[in-house]
This record gives sequence, C-alpha cells and structure tokens, in this order.
Amino acid sequence: MSLALLYSRAREGIHAPLVDVEVHLANGLPALSIVGLPEKAVQESKDRVRGALINSRFEFPARRITINLAPADLPKEGGRFDLPIALGVLAASGQIPRELLSQYEFIGELALSGELRPVKGVLPVALAARDAGRALVVPQEGAAEAALVSGLDIYPARHLLDICEHLTQGGRIPRYTIPPPSSAAVSGADLSDVRGQPHAKRALEIAAAGGHSLLMIGPPGTGKSMLASRLPGILPSMTEAEALETAAVLSVSDGGFDAAYWSRRPFRQPHHTASGVALVGGGSNPRPGEISLAHNGVMFLDELPEFDRRVLEVLREPLESGRITISRAARQAEFPARFQLIAAMNPCPCGYLGDNSRNCRCSADKIARYRDRISGPLMDRIDMHIEVPRLPTEMLHRPAEEVVEGSAAVRERVEVARERQLQRIGRSNSALNSREVENSCQLDDAGRTLLHRAMERLKLSARAYHRILKVARTIADLDGKSEIQVAHLSEAIGYRRLDRQE
Ligand SMILES: Nc1ncnc2c1ncn2[C@@H]1O[C@H](COP(=O)(O)OP(=O)(O)OP(=O)(O)O)[C@@H](O)[C@H]1O
Ligand SMILES: [Mg+2]
Repeated sequence: MSLALLYSRAREGIHAPLVDVEVHLANGLPALSIVGLPEKAVQESKDRVRGALINSRFEFPARRITINLAPADLPKEGGRFDLPIALGVLAASGQIPRELLSQYEFIGELALSGELRPVKGVLPVALAARDAGRALVVPQEGAAEAALVSGLDIYPARHLLDICEHLTQGGRIPRYTIPPPSSAAVSGADLSDVRGQPHAKRALEIAAAGGHSLLMIGPPGTGKSMLASRLPGILPSMTEAEALETAAVLSVSDGGFDAAYWSRRPFRQPHHTASGVALVGGGSNPRPGEISLAHNGVMFLDELPEFDRRVLEVLREPLESGRITISRAARQAEFPARFQLIAAMNPCPCGYLGDNSRNCRCSADKIARYRDRISGPLMDRIDMHIEVPRLPTEMLHRPAEEVVEGSAAVRERVEVARERQLQRIGRSNSALNSREVENSCQLDDAGRTLLHRAMERLKLSARAYHRILKVARTIADLDGKSEIQVAHLSEAIGYRRLDRQE
C-alpha cells in the first residue's frame, strides 16, 4: 500500500488544530498535487519538498502523488507542512519506515537543501501535541519555545536527514531536555527616581495590584511617562497559565516569541499614529495586534488624545471582555486581550490648564474639543483617573533626605495583594465579572450610603459603579482586609476624577 499518514498542526488564532497529512502514490503520469484548501505558500511547498528530497539524495517518486491536508475547511498557511509532506512522500514510497510516524507530530519548513527552517507559532503546537500524547519534531530554533510546555517529548532537528535517520535507525535524535529559563527579573528604571507625586505612586501601586486601568492627567514634564515606564518593575509575577497564554500570543505574532522573555509581563507602547489594525490585529490569516501582544501585561498609550478617535473606540469591546474577535472575509480568529490600559494626557492642548507656573492659552471651546477626542464610554471603562500636578521646583532639586521607597518594596506589597485575589477567585480584581463583583465586593451600611451618594453627586454610570467596587476591593487587599471599609471605598471614589467634571 502506498499511503502514509502523518500528523501536523495548523494555526487558528492562538490555537493549533490537528491536520492530517495524507500522502498517496498512484500509478499514472508523474505529478504532485496538494488538496485541502492550501494557500499559495502550500503550493510552493511542492517545489521545496521536491528540491529537499533530491538534494538529500532521496528518490523523488515518478508517480502520481496526491497530498491531502485534512480537514479541508481549515485555513492553512506557510511552509510549516513541508516537513510532514516530505516525510509522507518518503514513507509512502517505502524509503523510510512508517510504523513509528503516528507517535509524532511534525512541523517545519524545508530549504531546498533539506535543511529545516523555523516556523511561527511553535508554542500552541507544543501544547496541543502534549495534550494529544504525541512527541513533537520541530526545527532546532523552535525547541526552546516548545520546551516551555512541560511533559512533552521534543526532538529538535536541523536537517531532513536527521529525522529520517531517527525514524530508520531508532532514536538517533536526543530528546531536548534544556529546561525553560527562569523568569527574567525586570531591570530598568526604579520608582525611587520619581520625586514627590505620592498620590500618583499610590495609584500606580493600586493599579499594579489589581490590574486596573489608569489615566494620568497633568501638565508637560510632571513625570507621567516616567511613572508609566516604572510600572513593569512593580507588577506581580505571572501564574504559569498566564505566562503560557501570553507566550502563545507572542508565538503566533509577526515578532515571534523569545523564550528569554518567558514569564515576563509584556509592556507595549504603541505610537499615537498606530492604525486600528496595528492596535487590534488583522490580516488575511489574522495576526494579533498590540492589545493582544499586551495580554496579561500593560499597554501604555502616551498622549492619549493624539490617537485617532476611531482607533480608540475599538478598544471599548476588549476592555470589557478581555478578548477580541477579528473577522476577515471567510475567516474569524479570536485572540485574548486582557491588557492593563495605562494612559497619559495633558489637561488641555497647550498643556498648562490648572498649572500655576504658567497660564493656559486655550479657549474653553478648544479644551472641550480636545477632551472630546476621548469618548465618554471609553473614559467610563478606565478604572482610575488621577492628576499628576507640577512639583515645586525645589522638590526636584533638593537631595532627597527622606528614604524613598524603591520598586522592590512596592512590588512585595503588590504580590501579596494579588495573591489574595488569586486565592479568592483565581483572577485579578480588574477581571471580575459583575456577578463576582456582587459577591466579593460587599459593603456595609455606611459603605452603601457613601457609594449611593457619590453616584448621585458625580452622576456615575452603572459601569463606573462596578469599577469603583473593584478598585475598592484592591485597596482593601493591599490593606490586608477581607471586608471593604469606608476608607477603602472613599479612596476608590476619589479616582474617578474625570467623571466629576461632567
Ligand atoms: N516627579 C519627578 N521626579 C523626578 N524627575 C521628574 C519628575 N517629573 C518630571 N521629571 C523630569 O522631567 C522629565 C520629563 O518627565 P516625563 O516625560 O515623565 O513628563 P510627562 O509628564 O510625561 O510630560 P509630557 O506631558 O510632556 O509628556 C523626566 O525625564 C525627568 O527628568
Ligand atoms: Mg509624557
């Protein structure tokens, strides 16, 4: 029988659905056809496979070769099927044994020389292969990424011949056993560099502890960008599940995933000229955008009103759901996008509104238009709004006599507070749904009265109501309290600064 079956995997969002690669040799005029909705790249795979086989001194069968990639309705892209196709041709023509093939999954692009080229999205493939109970054969470059998945047998290869020898002579490729790197410590700027601004630092700590979104408003040069860039240094460590999911998104992205960044929360800072597609994701076989690349980490939008309003509006849905669905023609892909939004802006176009060091030159009309670039519904979705005022000059110059707390000390408190959240519901407070908020953010009578009054006075929306409760929950967690107290709640209400102006 001249039929061979091998397992490989396609890419769909951050998932890697199984693809059966069936190779059949029949009598007839020599030809090679690939069926199963392949893209152009898969068609090109024919030429690469032929070249690789001939250059590796195998015989390219002069028969009618049919290759079926099943299921047919699954989108397939890239050269990742070269390797299983080449091995399938060899097995079907009896040049390598086919008995052991079903124990493995194969993925890799071939060069004409027979050498293996790396492919994107190895991590999702590794997760799926492990769950299917099969070993994985990958190009050498992808081994470190696959090794992030525990309990998977990985066989890295540089050349088609390595794999053929392995299959023919039994276990020639040693199993990859290098453990994943331990999570890299975040180096870089320290929170102690920032003078003064205790209010902003406190807000940053709360945001870090609960994963809350934060908007900083203040005149130029008061330290907003400086504060935001110090957030990664105080974020809590990732859980294994979070780290895997984040790595899986990066793995299928254009930039790829570097195993050295394993378990480090992403910090993305797209420029305000970024397009909607860059921010949200897209493409014919959809790729993740900035919001997904920031999954379980931070997306910092500096100079928020400079962003295109329509681009900002697309953030509304993922800010609530933590995921994004991208539809392109016949295809749909879903990516996780639970990112922490940190934004900064000036209070007005000239930047000096409310600044006692200079007079603001903007008309009321101009200020209104500037603020209008950020819609009410988007503002509503930002948990905390704070002012970052100008410091008296002497505070900047004066050598700090007082001991200023550094990032490490803050991070310790953040870790403890996050751990309480994980123990309670298994997620950060910012990710609670409204039912969970009702359950875990209960108030006493005094708290209820306070919140009720604040809602009326500040004309807050139901969404703002829930967000205040979540922030209050985080403040209580930082305080080590199981109940939300009035002090926690009133601090949380204080972080709705922009609501108050409307
Ligand atoms: N609180 C502060 N402590 C120490 N240095 C500060 C502080 N605020 C501002 N600076 C100094 O001013 C510089 C500018 O700060 P930063 O870029 O964070 O301002 P910004 O608030 O983002 O301003 P803009 O609105 O113009 O973007 C910093 O690089 C730092 O040298
Ligand atoms: Mg700035």
